[in-house]
Amino acid sequence: MGPRRSAASSCHRLLLPLLLLGVSGFFQSYAVEVDIKDASNATCLYADWMMRFLITYESNNGDYKTTTLNLSSSVTHNGSVCGNDTQAALLAVQFGEGHSWSMNITKNNETYQGDFITLTYNTNDTAVFPDAKRKGPVTVLVKDPLHPVQLNTVFVCHNSYFFEAENITQIFWNVTVQAFVQNGTVSKKESRCPADRPTSAPTIPPTIANVTTASTTTLSPAPTSAPKPVENPDTGNYSLKSGNKTCFLATVGLQLNVTQNKPLLININPKTTVADGACGNTTATLKLNDGNSTLIGFTFAVKNTSASVQKFYLREVNVTLLNHLNGSVISSADNSNFSKWDAFLGSSYMCRKEQTLQINEDVQVHTFNLWIQPFLVEANKFATAQECSLDDDSILIPIVVGAALAVLIAIIVVAYIIGRRKSYAGYQTL
Ligand SMILES: *[C@@H]1O[C@H](CO)[C@@H](O)[C@H](O)[C@H]1NC(C)=O
Ligand SMILES: *[C@@H]1O[C@H](CO)[C@@H](O)[C@H](O)[C@H]1NC(C)=O
Ligand SMILES: *[C@@H]1O[C@H](CO)[C@@H](O)[C@H](O)[C@H]1NC(C)=O
Ligand SMILES: *[C@@H]1O[C@H](CO)[C@@H](O)[C@H](O)[C@H]1NC(C)=O
Ligand SMILES: *[C@@H]1O[C@H](CO)[C@@H](O)[C@H](O)[C@H]1NC(C)=O
Ligand SMILES: *[C@@H]1O[C@H](CO)[C@@H](O)[C@H](O)[C@H]1NC(C)=O
Ligand SMILES: *[C@@H]1O[C@H](CO)[C@@H](O)[C@H](O)[C@H]1NC(C)=O
Ligand SMILES: *[C@@H]1O[C@H](CO)[C@@H](O)[C@H](O)[C@H]1NC(C)=O
Repeated sequence: MGPRRSAASSCHRLLLPLLLLGVSGFFQSYAVEVDIKDASNATCLYADWMMRFLITYESNNGDYKTTTLNLSSSVTHNGSVCGNDTQAALLAVQFGEGHSWSMNITKNNETYQGDFITLTYNTNDTAVFPDAKRKGPVTVLVKDPLHPVQLNTVFVCHNSYFFEAENITQIFWNVTVQAFVQNGTVSKKESRCPADRPTSAPTIPPTIANVTTASTTTLSPAPTSAPKPVENPDTGNYSLKSGNKTCFLATVGLQLNVTQNKPLLININPKTTVADGACGNTTATLKLNDGNSTLIGFTFAVKNTSASVQKFYLREVNVTLLNHLNGSVISSADNSNFSKWDAFLGSSYMCRKEQTLQINEDVQVHTFNLWIQPFLVEANKFATAQECSLDDDSILIPIVVGAALAVLIAIIVVAYIIGRRKSYAGYQTL
């Protein structure tokens, strides 16, 4: 109870919850910015990030359901503290109907590191847990899996990363955090997460060395194998930005068919899927990361079909499945020889019916309600669409019908000639 501690507890706190309407108004996500000031009104703990949680809970009829808990627009940060050499810093936020999340951060000689992440979700929140069997707060404690960060260095991760503990997946992206900020100024020196480094795989989550979990209420474990989807996947809206401008638009429902001993169908849930990637003049890549450890990359390229006509087309699709717990790659498939979904540059490509992309002999991607524009997006809107209705099997129908008609006509002509000959022969006998 020394003077340092009372100085810390008199920290000034300042919260600026920012409302960001998702990626270009498609799916709604909120960013939180927390800027904690010390007694001299200097920033000592700074964090700006986005997160969401996938929570599996037991419903009234005994089924297990997975729901998404998002940050709400109003977030408080009661209890956040600067910390010092002896006391851990604490980043704590409260949101929605009685949910809270916090992380305590310790300082060593040269580094700082998250210690434990505590998530408390309240199953009384009927908007998120409409039919939860057990009502009330549930607390889950997870050891922070990230590596230590040098002091006077800001941790930055634009790509998403996530980790799982018990029946929860915590997903983070657009993260900027610095604890034990020196001289009130967030550092210019950045420590990037592995997913942001160009050489590494896009979004493999950090290895979880020792996840320890503790629930205040004992929920029965979630079912281990997800039931096979029988329905079509939900259609998701995804987009990429370059600066403030939307440069890539995609609307698509995705289903994977992965054969490991037997085929397994996996629907991609748009609500838990984060889009990133890169726009360009001649290639563009959309990477989708479903919190359920699925990464899909679509790469489009531009080709000249004549001196003056340019088209874009789908060139490559990558699928990587990761182990939920330790992030190790279960299966990885890549096909860079596609030449599909082509449309004139400046327009969009649309195909509502189901299509199959064969990535390798074990992995297929089924697409539904596809509408995509990887280049030259203007004003956040799709340009005129070229539809797939004239492609593949639908072009066969007129050919088959035409061929059948030709055969029919030939038969009629032959029958007519034979008939004529017969009747002619008949007249001759007269
Ligand atoms: C802290 O600084 C902010 C602006 O930097 C100022 O508005 C505020 O009044 C200051 N508070 C105190 C207690 O000095
Ligand atoms: C946070 O603190 C404010 C004011 O100190 C209080 O009105 C609010 O109820 C607190 N919120 C929570 C979740 O404790
Ligand atoms: C961080 O918080 C957890 C959970 O409240 C606690 O067990 C742990 O001792 C804390 N760590 C430090 C260094 O205060
Ligand atoms: C903070 O200020 C002190 C003295 O003004 C200086 O020695 C130190 O290098 C500064 N640290 C940073 C990280 O700017
Ligand atoms: C996706 O976008 C379309 C229009 O582009 C809109 O009609 C639809 O409601 C959106 N879906 C979601 C889930 O936001
Ligand atoms: C899934 O893939 C396997 C092997 O490629 C195939 O036999 C099966 O018909 C596919 N199932 C669906 C629903 O596409
Ligand atoms: C797909 O995977 C290959 C090899 O694993 C890699 O070289 C390529 O960059 C990946 N493409 C995307 C779009 O992720
Ligand atoms: C991850 O876990 C799986 C199954 O639990 C195991 O087979 C695999 O070796 C683990 N990988 C790593 C890198 O720890």
